[in-house]
Amino acid sequence: MDLYGLARPLLFRLDPETAHDLAFWLGARACAWPTLRAPEMPEGLHRTVFGLDFPSPLGLAAGLDKGATLLPLWQALGFGHVEIGTVTPRPQPGNPKPRLFRFPQAGLILNRMGFNSEGAEVVAARLRDRPQGLIVGGNLGKNKETPEAQALDDYRDAYRLLAPHVDYVALNVSSPNTPGLRNLQAPEALKPLLAGMLDLRKEMGLERQPLLLKLAPDLAPEDLDAIVEVAAASGISGLIATNTTLDRGVVAEPLRAQVEAKGAGGLSGVPLKAKAREVRRRLLAALRGRLPLVACGGLGSAEDVQGALDDGAALAQVYSALIFEGPGLVGRIHRGLSRG
Ligand SMILES: Cc1cc2nc3c(=O)[nH]c(=O)nc-3n(C[C@H](O)[C@H](O)[C@H](O)COP(=O)(O)O)c2cc1C
Repeated sequence: MDLYGLARPLLFRLDPETAHDLAFWLGARACAWPTLRAPEMPEGLHRTVFGLDFPSPLGLAAGLDKGATLLPLWQALGFGHVEIGTVTPRPQPGNPKPRLFRFPQAGLILNRMGFNSEGAEVVAARLRDRPQGLIVGGNLGKNKETPEAQALDDYRDAYRLLAPHVDYVALNVSSPNTPGLRNLQAPEALKPLLAGMLDLRKEMGLERQPLLLKLAPDLAPEDLDAIVEVAAASGISGLIATNTTLDRGVVAEPLRAQVEAKGAGGLSGVPLKAKAREVRRRLLAALRGRLPLVACGGLGSAEDVQGALDDGAALAQVYSALIFEGPGLVGRIHRGLSRG
């Protein structure tokens, strides 16, 4: 049993956000260790995607390190990339607690964090000391009080501050916990959003920096096809699929009733796997190789990640499985991928 195996029963007895804060406190101490460095990567994992050299296809999904506070630790665990955020332009506290729930028996997380964010200025300042050799993506969102019609201004404000300090930017239009955010996925809203962001990217001389779009799993197949056409025509660099789901139907009874009793929020982890796979396959079929896709949602083993890569995904990200399985997950996935 590894160290996490020992700590897990204690961490899982704590309230989830307290456990998160404790893990981050310990993580920050670990980041100060002078011996902390990236592990030796098994052969054959390297890949170049949207012009960036990834040491491995496996990355940490957005939402865990929202403020980019533990980058040396993620690098030492072996992640090929880390997506920080979601960062909003101005600081905001997120939703009232409790807003994070774990169901370990099902590998399931329910969250309605609602973009708790220190704001783009603070996070950008922290990124000035980021470690070398780790690919960092910046995931951007809008502030809660910003009306939908002014969403573009928020994404642009956050981009101006953060983009110079990251390797790629992801536009999060798919969190279920900010009212109205997902409406930005509609083609008539998406077109001006992407055009406005690409204009800003050009203005800032960052044309070579990849710009990605992160999508929800709760879109109808025809909507996915329409989004693909808008994305491919726009000139953005790729898609991330998927974010969390609002669909309680992914959870079997009797657990579903317990999940429903916790109230609103997005579901992630094992129960999201099949739905995320279906969405990913639909998107890849519609894309026909025009843009790379980053797979996310319910991935928790080398087989899952290899399956996503075999589907045609260029990269993969994990979040929930890391919470349930601990840091050893990264090495296990790498060894499995390298064995082929
Ligand atoms: C507690 C929690 C917070 C999250 N916060 C964000 C976020 O701020 N931005 C974002 O794009 N995705 C966020 N996500 C979604 C994850 O990045 C990922 O898309 C989703 O959890 C599916 O992957 P998984 O099944 O491996 O967890 C969050 C997920 C969880 C569990």
